[in-house]
Amino acid sequence: MLPPGCFSGKVAFITGGGTGLGKAMTSNLSTLGAECVIASRKLDVLQKTADEITNQTGNKVHAIQCDVRDPQAVAGCMDRLQELTGLPDVIINNAAGNFVSPSEKLSANAWRTVTDIVLNGTAYVTLELGKRLIQAQKGAVFLAITTIYAESGSGFVVPSAAAKSGVETLCKSLAAEWGRYGLRFNVIQPGPIRTKGAFSRLDPTGMFEKAMIGRIPTGRLGTPGEIGNLAAYLCSDYASWVSGAVIRMDGGEYVSMAGEFNELRRVTPEQWAMMEAMIRSTKGS
Ligand code: HXC
Ligand code: NAP
Repeated sequence: MLPPGCFSGKVAFITGGGTGLGKAMTSNLSTLGAECVIASRKLDVLQKTADEITNQTGNKVHAIQCDVRDPQAVAGCMDRLQELTGLPDVIINNAAGNFVSPSEKLSANAWRTVTDIVLNGTAYVTLELGKRLIQAQKGAVFLAITTIYAESGSGFVVPSAAAKSGVETLCKSLAAEWGRYGLRFNVIQPGPIRTKGAFSRLDPTGMFEKAMIGRIPTGRLGTPGEIGNLAAYLCSDYASWVSGAVIRMDGGEYVSMAGEFNELRRVTPEQWAMMEAMIRSTKGS
């Protein structure tokens, strides 16, 4: 945990902050002194989280209803944000939509729905706030939450994979272009972390969780608190020279899936002895 009070006097805006990882990041920032504003579609869920965190930390969390797919609604949300707190110091693009599906079953609207939330929603929030921050000559830090398959691609979540890759490209591009305005942009790619929102749509029967854990070298899923800590660091002044970075936090899952010989973890000491003998016997041949 960062030093207490290190976000005092700062304002953080978090999309999808009412649930799951967004709630955890809001909770961490609020604990460290930030005034937070959370936004998504379901105002009742947001308000409940806002009240819960405010009561826990003593630092105010505000809730604003906003569908990030609607640029008009995003502009209205930013007007309300400015009225409540002024322009933010921290912006976390965390809202997402996703579900597993064979791609041949996707309608155009299914594609549009996911890519609108993930890529267009992130772009609308970033452009709307970026323009206002630049106009006001105020520096800030943006963080986006993507996934490890934004890099590799993945079957069965193709709209999400395509949109998350776009989010990463957006962040890297703006880190280059808007650094001169005092704006930093970074990305966290989390591996699997049990949240109701994600697991109900990605593993509705629960049959893949064991396999997921099996390929994570640290032997477990991540926790929302772990993302909360990394997010707080990247959005803090301790990371003031970190920009354009894409940081994978997945217990080693990505490299574990990528390395061609990693399956050799299954080889027993007896099998190793036999294999070594076979390899050595080829010397000179
Ligand atoms: C095929 C589906 C579908 C499914 C919806 N659709 N679910 N198609 N398989 N399982 C289609 C619908 O038929 C419709 O197309 C279109 O998608 C829009 O569906 P709606 O239900 O009308 O959309 P909406 O009410 O706007 O809800 C959006 C949503 C929903 C994305 C579908 O799941 C949602 O609200 N999600 C928000 C939270 C979320 O997804 N969290 C998880 C993030 S996890 P038609 O053609 O019929 O009109 C994540 C991490 C991944 O991203 C990494 C983990 C390791
Ligand atoms: P989650 O609880 O379902 O979070 C998604 C959030 O997005 C919800 O709070 C939802 O709130 C909001 N949202 C969805 N559509 C929206 C819209 N149109 N406008 C505004 N807000 C919208 O799932 P999560 O696991 O915490 O996911 C959070 C982030 O982590 C996502 O970016 C996800 O891709 C990423 N991630 C998660 C995992 C994991 O294993 N959990 C792994 C990798 C990456 P409303 O329903 O109120 O709109």
